[in-house]
Amino acid sequence: MDKSIFEKIKIELQGLSPEEGLLFISNQFDNKAVFSTSFGLEDQVITQMIASAKLKIKLFTLDTGRLFQETYDIFDLTVKKYGLSIITYAPQASSVENLITKKGPNSFYESIENRKECCFIRKVEPLQRALAGAEVWITGVRADQSTNRNVMQLIEWDEQHQLIKYNPILFWNLEDVSSYIEQKRIPVNTLHKKGFPSIGCEPCTRAVLPGEDPRAGRWWWESSSKECGLHSNEDQLPAKSSV
Ligand code: ADX
Ligand code: SF4
Repeated sequence: MDKSIFEKIKIELQGLSPEEGLLFISNQFDNKAVFSTSFGLEDQVITQMIASAKLKIKLFTLDTGRLFQETYDIFDLTVKKYGLSIITYAPQASSVENLITKKGPNSFYESIENRKECCFIRKVEPLQRALAGAEVWITGVRADQSTNRNVMQLIEWDEQHQLIKYNPILFWNLEDVSSYIEQKRIPVNTLHKKGFPSIGCEPCTRAVLPGEDPRAGRWWWESSSKECGLHSNEDQLPAKSSV
């Protein structure tokens, strides 16, 4: 899309609440606005906002094939509760087949390069298909989740995908999220109660201890920036590999 529209939308969105902002985006972009959900706490909040106002925003998820059963359970419950359709993108079968044939099913534990290769195949490439034709990408990221996200903007121009990225609850803290969930009785992943504040793929997510960084359980064996490439520009190319 044309980047000049972005500057106009940025001004229009100033001072709007997440609900107002989502309504504005829905009216402005019709079905060209898409929301990515991994069924985390923040995503459940945004899903509630979209569903209750019947917004014309398409929901999609990236099913990596390695998610927790509890995530599939909340996926199912969410679809049923709101009567929504959540478009699901899976990795290219041949890429997964090649990866596992050449490197085995657990290659991500062996090196950062291998881990990024798996994330590319299972998340980043499917994301590119999910965003094709979209003009606005809505996410549930929050600024206090990581140093990388702390510098993100409420509304940004996504150079890689050539679209507007809108993070409506970027400046909410965890308490804001929890109280909204309680107030609206929003269903959440049962793993949160078991010490999992941030949930990704099953082999790459562990519970955290009280007081530990909420993202410490993601790729816990790495001291990397704890991003899979969905929201950080540095990771958006496939890792160099023979696969
Ligand atoms: S991640 O990059 O570390 O995996 P995180 O779990 O914090 O991301 O989620 C942040 C936002 O990224 C979510 O609110 C959602 O918009 C998007 N996201 C992350 N994982 C997925 C997924 N599997 N499917 C769709 N969207 C996702
Ligand atoms: Fe692969 Fe782990 Fe990335 Fe999931 S989080 S795509 S299993 S490396």
